Amino acid sequence: MTGVHRQVPKSVDYFDQVSEAAAFLREKLSTLTPLIGIVLGSGLGAVADAITSPVVVAYGEIPHFPQSTVEGHSGRIVAGMLGPVPVVVMQGRVHFYEGYTPEQVTFPMRVLGALGLKAVVLTNAAGGIQEGYRVGQLVALADHINFMGWNPLIGPNEPRFGFATGTGLRFFDMTEAYSKRLRALARETAFGEGFALEEGVYLATPGPSFETPAEVRAFRGLGATLVGMSTVPETIVARHMGLEVLGISCVTNLAAGLGGSQLSHEEVFEAGRQVENRLAGLLTRLLPKVAGLLKAES
Ligand code: HPA
Repeated sequence: MTGVHRQVPKSVDYFDQVSEAAAFLREKLSTLTPLIGIVLGSGLGAVADAITSPVVVAYGEIPHFPQSTVEGHSGRIVAGMLGPVPVVVMQGRVHFYEGYTPEQVTFPMRVLGALGLKAVVLTNAAGGIQEGYRVGQLVALADHINFMGWNPLIGPNEPRFGFATGTGLRFFDMTEAYSKRLRALARETAFGEGFALEEGVYLATPGPSFETPAEVRAFRGLGATLVGMSTVPETIVARHMGLEVLGISCVTNLAAGLGGSQLSHEEVFEAGRQVENRLAGLLTRLLPKVAGLLKAES
């Protein structure tokens, strides 16, 4: 057998790594059992400051956890209470364009699933494609278009990932990738906070270059109202695990060719900073309602 290595399906090791990371976090969290996860996008870190009795864990401490190389993505987990709701917040995410594999990009989401969460709120910075969108506007995702050219579930299926369903299926429905009822609650809560939360369709590109104006016109033709470089892989694995997903984009800029100026990461980051408090307010009011729904079912 010298020199011959039997190919072990990668998902076997991967599941063990996810379990190890989750076990590490569970020990750190002690008696806290989070119900909902929140992933914060570029410049959108303020929600983490609203967490009481926080347990902070740097990504670098967690076994197998990938670390973000992007400025503005701080790379830590903040777990604790958002009002009356036990949550785990991921401040910063990793992206495909950083050179991570699809499995690494979605590793943190897998770990959230392994912690036993029932729902996740995925936030991101996005370019606005739809006419009428303004910079600083929050948009609830009604659907997405996967334009990344890959799917994080390519490879052997691992049924044990079905944390919330019992079985992670090879083929599963994506008709309601983004939960209708959570979206409705979010819109109602935003209304109560004095702003309108529109619904949109998010198209994910691999990045890291922003789009050309021709690409933006093409994406509009495909039905996209927002464009970004994240979220879609996380949504796919969250649905594979049976978690309910609420997606919220912050329009940090008008997409290329629509705003008249050149795009930069600084602009995206700054626009995120200006709206992060509104997002924090929305989630603080919204999550108790979501928790009420989820608990009534368990
Ligand atoms: N394009 C892609 N990703 C983005 C954008 C954009 O215009 N803005 C924020 N993230």
